[in-house]
Amino acid sequence: MLEQAKRAARAALEAWRRAAGARHVRQNAPHVTRAGLAAGLERLGIAPGDTLFVHSSLKSLGYVEGGAPAVIAALQDAVGPQGALLLPAYYLPGGTVRAACAMPDYVFDPRRHGTHMGRLPEAFLASPGVRRSIHPTHSVCAWGRHAANLTEAHHRAPSTFGMGSPWQRFIGCEHAKVLGLGISMGPVTFYHALEDAMGEAFPVPVWEDETRLLACLDHAGRRWDVPVRPFDPAVARRRIDHPGREDLREYFQREFDAAGLRVNGQVGDAASWCIPAQAFYDHLCQLASEHVTIYASAAQLAARPVSQPSPHARA
Ligand SMILES: CC(C)(COP(=O)(O)OP(=O)(O)OC[C@H]1O[C@@H](n2cnc3c(N)ncnc32)[C@H](O)[C@@H]1OP(=O)(O)O)[C@@H](O)C(=O)NCCC(=O)NCCS
Repeated sequence: MLEQAKRAARAALEAWRRAAGARHVRQNAPHVTRAGLAAGLERLGIAPGDTLFVHSSLKSLGYVEGGAPAVIAALQDAVGPQGALLLPAYYLPGGTVRAACAMPDYVFDPRRHGTHMGRLPEAFLASPGVRRSIHPTHSVCAWGRHAANLTEAHHRAPSTFGMGSPWQRFIGCEHAKVLGLGISMGPVTFYHALEDAMGEAFPVPVWEDETRLLACLDHAGRRWDVPVRPFDPAVARRRIDHPGREDLREYFQREFDAAGLRVNGQVGDAASWCIPAQAFYDHLCQLASEHVTIYASAAQLAARPVSQPSPHARA
């Protein structure tokens, strides 16, 4: 009874906090609409038939009339029924894979567990026609033409981001692109696809030694034990998404701009970018062979100057 009351109080407080946040953005940011967002996506080169892996910041877009569902509708307008959308729906109790592994009796249940990846993934999860992969820490959700294929085998994949995972299937889709809406080059899961594909040959030892099995339920309530390998926390602290690694984020931005792979543009009020997935992956392989990874030290970055701008580079 007491637990129930506490839960209700927490939910009320969160609803109040969210309403206050939305009010603040409504009063202080430029207003944007679904049609305006779709036009921005088109200018970024997003076209019908594209499959997008989207990382986002809702607040950075300005005040969106209709909130997160309107952004999702704009993304759907942009890729059309022949395209597909993929968003992170990670549920990370404790904040990291390692913390999830340390939780006694943790069982991921897609019917009960939401996501910690922000307001857009939350709304996407609740949208009609969206499928969710079964994974204890890095579940993804997908809509559109490839949704079933992208999500169906995650719990049977030998590693989170490797063979059989949504990332490896995403790279195989025609017109697959990684889209950053109002975010830097930091919070981009796609980088890990290369790590899992290369395994021990990846130039940085990113994982702890032991692979663990974490329990999940599927949509029918059947239990699966899914392998996960926690990241080594000391290595993760030097990663591109760590607040202290602005140098690495800036390097990657300049590198992908110079290589002519990153298309930059404004979506709503947000500086946004888009990179074709296969070319993104190939360039990450090339950089890794030159000792530049998302864990590179300042000395390693200094030893490899950013590429010369390609004649194909786009502003
Ligand atoms: C962490 C992160 C999500 C924060 O971005 P954010 O814009 O502050 O958060 P959300 O996208 O959840 O949006 C919530 C904000 O939108 C604002 N908001 C509410 N209604 C809104 C509306 N109609 N229009 C615009 N903004 C609105 C809210 O004020 C809220 O901010 P608040 O919580 O400070 O009040 C973002 O920086 C990020 O890293 N995104 C990528 C996440 C990811 O994919 N990670 C995986 C990589 S490994």
